[in-house]
Amino acid sequence: MKFSTVLSSSLMVVAALAAPTPTVQEPVNAAFEKRASVTDTPVGYASQNGGTTGGAGGTTTTVSSFAEFTAAVSSSDKKVVYVSGPITQAAKQVKVGSNTSIIGKDSSVVFTGFGLIVKGMSNVVIRNIAIAKVLAANGDAIGVQKSTNVWIDHVDVSSDRDHDKDFYDGLLDLTHAADFVTISNSFVHDHWKASLVGHSDSNGAEDKGHLRVTYANNLFENLNSRGPSFRFGTGHMFNNYYNSVSDGINTRQGAQVLVENNVFVDSKKSVYSTDGGFAVATGNDFGSGSNTAPAGTLKTVPYSYTKLDASAVKAAVVGTAGVTLKF
Ligand SMILES: *[C@@H]1O[C@H](CO)[C@@H](O)[C@H](O)[C@H]1NC(C)=O
Repeated sequence: MKFSTVLSSSLMVVAALAAPTPTVQEPVNAAFEKRASVTDTPVGYASQNGGTTGGAGGTTTTVSSFAEFTAAVSSSDKKVVYVSGPITQAAKQVKVGSNTSIIGKDSSVVFTGFGLIVKGMSNVVIRNIAIAKVLAANGDAIGVQKSTNVWIDHVDVSSDRDHDKDFYDGLLDLTHAADFVTISNSFVHDHWKASLVGHSDSNGAEDKGHLRVTYANNLFENLNSRGPSFRFGTGHMFNNYYNSVSDGINTRQGAQVLVENNVFVDSKKSVYSTDGGFAVATGNDFGSGSNTAPAGTLKTVPYSYTKLDASAVKAAVVGTAGVTLKF
């Protein structure tokens, strides 16, 4: 580097220090927000079947109201929809089209009172958004039905447990043969029935051979059940941290789940079966809970992934899961 370059860049630093530009108020935990990119790709089942890219490479818009948001996400044109700031609206789930990425710009993005539904679509990414207190009459916080390749990452979904268990519906419900879905780095908390994969014992004809879902690096906290409840499909759960979840992974109706290197604190039933579900469980720390499901056959999955030892999961997940990214 030439002397003149050093001199001019030093002068620029001095100038910047002397005349700071006013900054906008940052959210409280902005210091912890990690830079992320719309071209990031998922680990797990959403990486299969051609991969999940959402709207990366398409048009981009930034919205900050309910009306702008619903208008922006509905088409199947390839698009990235950034959301800026919180939106509150008591409303039915907003329909999300194919080839769409919905991206919260930072930790201030909270949807209160309404959720999202991905139905009959493919290739959808939902990242860095909190969704809170969606009344049962308005549906789940996030629902995926008859859709393939959906990546849900760094979301924060919750309600409360002050009401009856049916006051709110599910937080993350994947039904009607949803397939190639990954839920990662998310904070799922303060709710009765968290995540349902396969909604009915009598829906096997539609669901069998589908419902391939990965749950990785999520924090499940203060839940009664469904962490998740998994019927018919194929599930891979690794490096999730369960804190005070009474009934954790429920494998049902022939489902095969691979449960690796998760940690359960203050749990009653960590992994259990009803109606003939199966599990292979290795490297977990069940704490006071246990695995009582019959041994399954799912020992490998068709993608590569890096798993942490159970002893490293708390430090990696708590504080990172949820809306902690910045775009
Ligand atoms: C999504 O994008 C892909 C690739 O550009 C395209 O082939 C497909 O038709 C799109 N899906 C819909 C439902 O428009």
